[in-house]
Amino acid sequence: MPLQKKSPCKVNLLLNILSKRPDGFHELETVMQPVNFCDELSFERGGNGIQLLCSDKTLPTDSRNLVFRAAENFLAAAKISDSVKIHLEKKIPLAAGLGGGSGNAATTLLALNELFGQPLSLAKLHELAAALGSDIPFFLYSKPALATGRGEKVESLENFPALRDKVFLLIHPGFGISTPWAYQNLARFPAALNGQKSRAQKLISLLRTADLKMAAREFYNSLEAPALEKFLILGLFQEFLRANGALAALMSGSGSTTFAICETVSSAESLLEKFKSKFGSNCWTAVVPV
Ligand code: C5P
Repeated sequence: MPLQKKSPCKVNLLLNILSKRPDGFHELETVMQPVNFCDELSFERGGNGIQLLCSDKTLPTDSRNLVFRAAENFLAAAKISDSVKIHLEKKIPLAAGLGGGSGNAATTLLALNELFGQPLSLAKLHELAAALGSDIPFFLYSKPALATGRGEKVESLENFPALRDKVFLLIHPGFGISTPWAYQNLARFPAALNGQKSRAQKLISLLRTADLKMAAREFYNSLEAPALEKFLILGLFQEFLRANGALAALMSGSGSTTFAICETVSSAESLLEKFKSKFGSNCWTAVVPV
């Protein structure tokens, strides 16, 4: 029987860039929230080397794919020469700011560690995850988190009372935004590039109260500066969502997904209906309880 795993996505309630580092990455503080909308992966021993099959035929299945690289690095670190077959059923949109690929890589590390009898510690998996990508360690823990450094330093947090029983509405506009593009273009927005460190702690304190409206005033994403300038539609989405009852609306990660937070599934669904009558039905959308 293959080992089946769900691979969730995330939104950034805050993504505050603090500075550009000499190594080209950006120092940041981000408050990340897991979202229970998932890709599905299955893992089994056997085959020849690492065999990756993917439902989305536009994705490479060799070492250009983070899942493949995660498997390769795991097997090397654990000194395992066996073969593995991996199947990836893709549901999360690509280049969406939802961390789909990062989550897939973290899920692969956790699943292979389980499949081979836990040869590596969580600390070692974290090290492998950080080497693969800045967002990947977050997905090892399945909890809300404050992430710092380039995103790889993760402090897990208890579920936020302000989000209890709330519902995410995710809207992907049908085009992706490249993460390197978003970071490079921050250079033209000095205020967004050099954020004040302290926003994250303030937001976390507010999320620990049950008042989402207050907390939502502190939602912020530095990468909106370049993204909303180039893609005007994303700013229009946010205005419309807020004006029609969303408790909050923000771009996630480097985009292009906009997320809104609603009180209930039915209010999220009726907001989505209004959204579709305004903007048409071409966007990818999902309503996901927290
Ligand atoms: O770490 P990851 O591979 O996900 O990063 C993708 C790209 O995003 C990097 O090559 C870099 O251009 C940018 N990035 C950054 N600062 C970060 C995270 C990512 O500049 N903290």
